[in-house]
Amino acid sequence: MTAVLIDGKEIARKKRVEIADEVKELNERNIIPGLAVILVGDNQASKTYVNNKQKASKEVGMHSSLITLSDSVTEQELLEKIEELNLDSSIHGILVQLPLPAHIDEIKVIETISPEKDVDGFHPVNIGRLMTGQDAFFPCTPYGIMVMLKETGIDPEGKNVVIVGRSNIVGKPSGQLFLNENATVTYCHSKTKDLKAHTRAADILVAAVGRADLITADHIKEGAVIIDVGMNRNNSGKLCGDVSFDEVKDKAGYITPVPGGVGPMTIAMLLLNTLKSAKKALHTVPSK
Ligand code: GUN
Repeated sequence: MTAVLIDGKEIARKKRVEIADEVKELNERNIIPGLAVILVGDNQASKTYVNNKQKASKEVGMHSSLITLSDSVTEQELLEKIEELNLDSSIHGILVQLPLPAHIDEIKVIETISPEKDVDGFHPVNIGRLMTGQDAFFPCTPYGIMVMLKETGIDPEGKNVVIVGRSNIVGKPSGQLFLNENATVTYCHSKTKDLKAHTRAADILVAAVGRADLITADHIKEGAVIIDVGMNRNNSGKLCGDVSFDEVKDKAGYITPVPGGVGPMTIAMLLLNTLKSAKKALHTVPSK
């Protein structure tokens, strides 16, 4: 192994300690940051993610409210629940776990969340603010990637950054965050011709596709920074990313593991966004 391992688990732990300290300070001023998590249906992976988010928010001293709705909930009922939470002054962050059942319009749901409580950073207002370089809630995974790099002493300015994957949750906002940091950004996706030609030029490569072993040693430049967002199971059922870790680690300069890389950072950034929202409550006069 020649690459330096970027220990997301440890960086996230450090961030959570800082967040817990700030939560304590807010508590002294009678503010308890509140996160509401809505889970619809019983998708097993979603349940695990939601449990992890809830556990982490409680550990830093936040108030965490879990709303579980059955698969058969109507879109209208879900929208009404969100509107109720928008008005609830004890709730500073609202998160609706995706994916939603097919009969519910995801876009409508996201657009119903108040942009000021959208701690996932999925609302078009927050995406627009991100694109125009304004203060915003940044989507948690891209935000986590950026914080991880900064903590490792890697400055994206002037670097060739290649993002593989163009999802609304990871790929697209990651590219925008890197652009805001003055990187030169290339997006690759399923229709890209000659993927390797692009990825081999990357100083920083972000793999966010969801396909095990998509990125091999042959895809990367010697010494590159490799960020693996993938969360897959290989043939033997083992958790793995989009990068062939065992071969890439001998050629890369830095690499994130799966698990223990980007995943823990995503949750830490959700807490950071919730804290940020709660801090705004300090300066807001409550309405009657
Ligand atoms: N489903 C997969 N990732 C996420 C996420 O970051 N937020 C929400 N709300 N749903 C998801």
